[in-house]
Amino acid sequence: MYQVLYRKWRPQTFSEVYGQPAVTTALKNELRTGRLAHAYLFTGSRGTGKTSCAKILAKAVNCLSPRDGDPCNECDNCRGIDAGTILDVVEIDAASNNGVDNIRDLRDEVNFSPSIAKYRVYIIDEVHMLSAGAFNALLKTLEEPPEHVIFILATTEVHKLPATILSRCQRFDFGRIPAEEISARLQYVADQEQFTLADDAALLIARLADGGLRDALSLLDQCLSRSHDVTASLVAEATGMAGRDYLFRLAAAIRSRDGAAALTLLNSLYEGSKDMERLCVELVDFYRNLMIMKSVGDPGALIVMSPDELVELHREADALSLESILHIMDVLQRTLDRLKSGVSRRVEMETTMLRLCDPRLDTTPESLLRRIEALETRPMPSTPTASIASSVKPEAEPTPVSQEAAKPEEPKPAENAPSVSVSVPFTGWADVLAYIAKQSPPLYGVLTDSTAVIDGEQLIILTDNELFGALVRSDGNKAVLLGAVQAVVGRPMRIKRGRPNRKEEPSAPADPLSDFLRRSAESGITIEERG
Ligand SMILES: Nc1ncnc2c1ncn2[C@@H]1O[C@H](COP(=O)(O)OP(=O)(O)OP(=O)(O)O)[C@@H](O)[C@H]1O
Ligand SMILES: [Mg+2]
Ligand SMILES: [Zn+2]
Repeated sequence: MYQVLYRKWRPQTFSEVYGQPAVTTALKNELRTGRLAHAYLFTGSRGTGKTSCAKILAKAVNCLSPRDGDPCNECDNCRGIDAGTILDVVEIDAASNNGVDNIRDLRDEVNFSPSIAKYRVYIIDEVHMLSAGAFNALLKTLEEPPEHVIFILATTEVHKLPATILSRCQRFDFGRIPAEEISARLQYVADQEQFTLADDAALLIARLADGGLRDALSLLDQCLSRSHDVTASLVAEATGMAGRDYLFRLAAAIRSRDGAAALTLLNSLYEGSKDMERLCVELVDFYRNLMIMKSVGDPGALIVMSPDELVELHREADALSLESILHIMDVLQRTLDRLKSGVSRRVEMETTMLRLCDPRLDTTPESLLRRIEALETRPMPSTPTASIASSVKPEAEPTPVSQEAAKPEEPKPAENAPSVSVSVPFTGWADVLAYIAKQSPPLYGVLTDSTAVIDGEQLIILTDNELFGALVRSDGNKAVLLGAVQAVVGRPMRIKRGRPNRKEEPSAPADPLSDFLRRSAESGITIEERG
């Protein structure tokens, strides 16, 4: 019968435990010098060697001919413990034996001296699952354990243990295992099992496993069920990483501002029953990788991708600025928040794609309407452009920012003025914010959630953040703001503050079209500034 790799390759000595040098060195020292504790606590993330080390320790303290702190694995005691015939080593799964009675039984039992071995060793796995009563019962025993008893508690969730227990144990933290160590162990296993494992494949598995050796060995098993010649592309295929070229294609559409291509692709993913929230998560992750590639010298270690994908990712990163990557991530992140709140996922993703594509060649709101209409087969009511203007009502008392803006203009009620100059979302706002971020982090901080629109010759910043007014009144910040806008627009502009028109948001968007228009006006990046 086939035994899964992670069971078959459980380390049998401390020297075989990978990536936990602090733990294994300390334990071997204690064993060599005979300075053993009565209670150990092994904590750390999944599949990093806690249970394995507990078993090794249980053998090492009882081994008849230990070797430099390691068990020999050959003497009667080592074999008996491995075979489970020596009852002095007891493994308790606290997940299923968590009651106070289980621990009381144990308390009575510990007083008997060991039958064959030197020490009675109790390994209590998943110890955080014990009930409060059981913890109390255990505490009594931990306080005055008989000489011949050793407790080894293991858990992934150390924060769930009472302080009284913690203070009575010698604690060892099992860290995530570095990818290089994991891949070395995988190579060792490959060698023993006689299959071929390419270096980049091993490293890819190691990164996917995120620090856990059990997960890494399981992934390797998954690959082996397909072929005994494990390459990086096999790993990508077996773990479902392959076939993600749609991410690259969506990114290409966004970069080339091809809204139609993005929507078509989105549509085919939707029809192929791709979950829209999942897609959004994948896109955020994709742009995160681009961000890392842009900002870290040697990004390889931080990005989990197959070598083929990495080459393509490099190309994509070269074509984008860090600012636009951050901007896209920001929009996607906000979309993700909204997707969770049960809006129509498809429409939400469509509007996001359009927002990201920022159709430069097609700047009028009407043409955007046509694009949406073409995709949404439902008949849509025609919406006058004034609906955009009406979604942007400058405050009755605009906060004067520049001298000229101090003379407030009469705010025109948009409903009564179809000829009102249309406020168009200002596409350069992200760039302005990028400037501001460098020069005044506090001002950037209050503006992170803001958007801006252009209304004739003035720029209206839409924000709810009350700190904005206070901050911008200081001369330094005012100059930073005016300078940033001038740098992006190419000429000085009058600046006003307005409020995003959130209160009018319907809780469930009945009409995706007007919803789209409203949000595109808010987010301020779908429509180019004219003039
Ligand atoms: N540090 C390691 N060195 C070598 N192999 C390891 C290591 N950690 C885990 N493994 C592999 O993973 C398997 C499971 O490890 P182990 O049971 O020790 O993990 P654990 O930390 O107790 O995990 P959990 O928190 O899920 O209980 C082992 O049989 C072994 O194959
Ligand atoms: Mg375990
Ligand atoms: Zn032995």
